[in-house]
Amino acid sequence: MSLCYLDGAFLPLAEAKVSVLDRGFIFGDGVYEVMPVFGRRVLRLERHLARLERSLAAVDIANPLSRAQWADIVERLLAAQAGADFTVYVQLTRGAAPRNHQPPAGIAPTVFVMASPLAPVDPAVTVRAITHEDFRWQRCEIKSTSLLANVLLRQAAVAAGAAEAILVRDELVTEGAASNVFVVVDGRLRTPPLSTHLLPGVTRDLLVEILADSADAVLETDLTRAELERADEIFLTSSSRELAAVSHLDGRPVGASAPGPVFHRVVERYAAFKHGGI
Ligand code: PDD
Repeated sequence: MSLCYLDGAFLPLAEAKVSVLDRGFIFGDGVYEVMPVFGRRVLRLERHLARLERSLAAVDIANPLSRAQWADIVERLLAAQAGADFTVYVQLTRGAAPRNHQPPAGIAPTVFVMASPLAPVDPAVTVRAITHEDFRWQRCEIKSTSLLANVLLRQAAVAAGAAEAILVRDELVTEGAASNVFVVVDGRLRTPPLSTHLLPGVTRDLLVEILADSADAVLETDLTRAELERADEIFLTSSSRELAAVSHLDGRPVGASAPGPVFHRVVERYAAFKHGGI
């Protein structure tokens, strides 16, 4: 039986209920976080809470809890479960109110948190990706629960026999439907720069940070579709899938269609950080 947190109470997930008038249900009016837990320790808890604060501020929902209170909820949910690795999902919506695009003043946000077991990721397992026009909105830096476009893009990838869609806006690569994108072009490891067109991934930022003093320091520069298509290596990053090398892009092999040398070195550094080795 899995425990969750809803609006101040800890209860079994199956018993958690929200109003059909919740603005998360009616409008997708909310924000969320997905935090990975390895060895019962949240990786970069503070960064996830900081991004949650930025998302809430961007949509003008007041954060009802302090960082210490968020950490306490996560700790209590993990204490109720056996196992080592999890994802913690946090969602806040603007709350329940009669349906009207303009929210009434003074409604309390709905706060929901759950922890789910996370299966180990094998970095040797590659994924296929497609490219797709990025038809999402102009505020992709907000981690919003309004994910219809992302869902459609992921569905398009799966329909094409791939695991992820790599998105291109005005000939520039932005990110994946639920991941950030790294490439090796002309021997340099690159990722698109932060902007309102992509989510500032915690995993992305972690790699930029831990590789800064290495031969694989990440260049944060615009990446064209043409550069993506001739990349020797492509890999995707996210909290739940960690690092995954792309074997084929739009059906064509990427490099040797196997994890490349840069990917191997990056995985090694990431693993060392994840296990507290550096
Ligand atoms: N998604 N870009 C998008 C659009 C994402 O949805 C995600 C993660 C990322 C990677 O961010 P991070 O490294 O902080 O997980 C980038 C999560 C895992 C999800 O929606 O389930």
